Amino acid sequence: MAEGLLRAVDIYKSFVGVQALKKVSFEINPGEIHCLAGENGSGKSTLIKVISGVYSPDSGYMEFGGKRYEKITPIDAIQSGIQVIYQDFSIFPNLTVMENLAFNSELADRRKIVNWKRMRKIATDAIAKINFKVDLDAMVGTLTVAEKQMIAISRALMFNTKLIIMDEPTTALTKREVRNLFNIILKLKERGIAILFVSHKLNEVFEISEKFTILRSGELVATGSTADLDSEKFSFFMTGREFQKKTFVPLNVSKEPIFQAKGIGMKSAFHDVSFDLRRGEIIGITGLLDSGRTELALSLFGIRPIDHGAVLVNGEEVKIINPQVAMQHKIGYVPEDRLSEGLFLTQSIADNIVISEIDSLANKIGILDHKRRSEEIERWVRELAISTPNPDNACQTLSGGNQQRVVLAKWLALNLDILILNGPTVGVDIGSKHDIHGILQKLAEEGLALLIISDDLPEVLENCSRILVMKSGSIVADLDAAKSDEKTILSYMM
Ligand SMILES: Nc1ncnc2c1ncn2[C@@H]1O[C@H](COP(=O)(O)OP(=O)(O)O)[C@@H](O)[C@H]1O
Ligand SMILES: [Mg+2]
Repeated sequence: MAEGLLRAVDIYKSFVGVQALKKVSFEINPGEIHCLAGENGSGKSTLIKVISGVYSPDSGYMEFGGKRYEKITPIDAIQSGIQVIYQDFSIFPNLTVMENLAFNSELADRRKIVNWKRMRKIATDAIAKINFKVDLDAMVGTLTVAEKQMIAISRALMFNTKLIIMDEPTTALTKREVRNLFNIILKLKERGIAILFVSHKLNEVFEISEKFTILRSGELVATGSTADLDSEKFSFFMTGREFQKKTFVPLNVSKEPIFQAKGIGMKSAFHDVSFDLRRGEIIGITGLLDSGRTELALSLFGIRPIDHGAVLVNGEEVKIINPQVAMQHKIGYVPEDRLSEGLFLTQSIADNIVISEIDSLANKIGILDHKRRSEEIERWVRELAISTPNPDNACQTLSGGNQQRVVLAKWLALNLDILILNGPTVGVDIGSKHDIHGILQKLAEEGLALLIISDDLPEVLENCSRILVMKSGSIVADLDAAKSDEKTILSYMM
């Protein structure tokens, strides 16, 4: 094993009324990709801040690059090669890419005359290190989150960096951007740079990290090789809760299908897709990203209509040409990206829940029935166990898992027959994920017909009665979930 790069030993840190870290020890080697996980409030950010000198620990010490520090200062940390990329990236939106990158070396030197040529050279070299291409004269505020992150990484690499710490770097990224970030992380590793990566997303931890450390309520609960971890252990370490898997057993399946797809297709996306969906059933649709699963989901809700085949609702053909038609036929759709498509984050939780049923809450002359409105809100907050002190708070005050419940509530308030969910637990913490699965199973028992589009195989295996596997736009397998497993599904997907 390579000689350790960083060792933090018996770190304690408290804030008024909170013991944020209790005797936490932590080690990372050069070139190691290490995931730091834990639920919200478990102490991850505090540990990062201790390591980077933002907070001094109440007790404990740190060794970095062979040197011992009782308290490392932020300047020591940077000079010895520790760089932190915070969630806000600490960049200046009103400056250009070039100015952001060259800021430290040029502007901070208080040179009277800014040497633009030198700045351009510094910036060009910085982005070249990670093969990142961007207009150096663009205002950083106009760039995407992923681009801002690349600038923050480029900037971190301008120093003699040995350890890069990233606090939840994938939160606001698309899957493709996550992939790109992971490729860059692997390249940094090749150069011997250690990466400490904060995440509570199971699939990311398994995919990218070699070592893991899990905190719970400020305490170290487990650390070791990711190879020795499995999803059950991970969930237990994260939450301290044992989840017994409740595999879905359909109970009240209707005799007649409520929804039928007969040879439907959309040019260059999918073709000849047929299936029947009954009340009480949960059907899973899985496949790789380009398998056509997303387009299929969008077409069933009329966002991108089909161009051949037929859809039948209760045995009658319906042309779902837009979401309004879908909703008239009691079909709802929970989008994959709840943050951009499903919720108004700055509006209250309450308004988000009743927004789609607002017409039915008005009396004959069109005035909102406040009593019914609050009854509805109270009902859904209770039924879906939305964890909030007050439903009038803005939606953005909720955790991802609770936001997802608000999206569900919004649809369920419409008394639907059919609910299509695209990636229902993407970006949701483990405890909430488990609870949402319980809610979906209960809805099926109560007679809803559900269709879950997901590439999370354990999710479809545990929560669906049947699984349709898509590949290159077609359904290549129709499996009984109870008799299937991940290997079988993967063999059809690939
Ligand atoms: N500056 C602070 N002042 C007071 N309490 C804090 C401060 N920073 C964090 N905490 C508390 O310490 C605990 C750990 O927080 P944090 O390290 O941010 O957790 P995580 O990053 O895992 O979500 C939480 O209870 C949080 O409220
Ligand atoms: Mg944090």
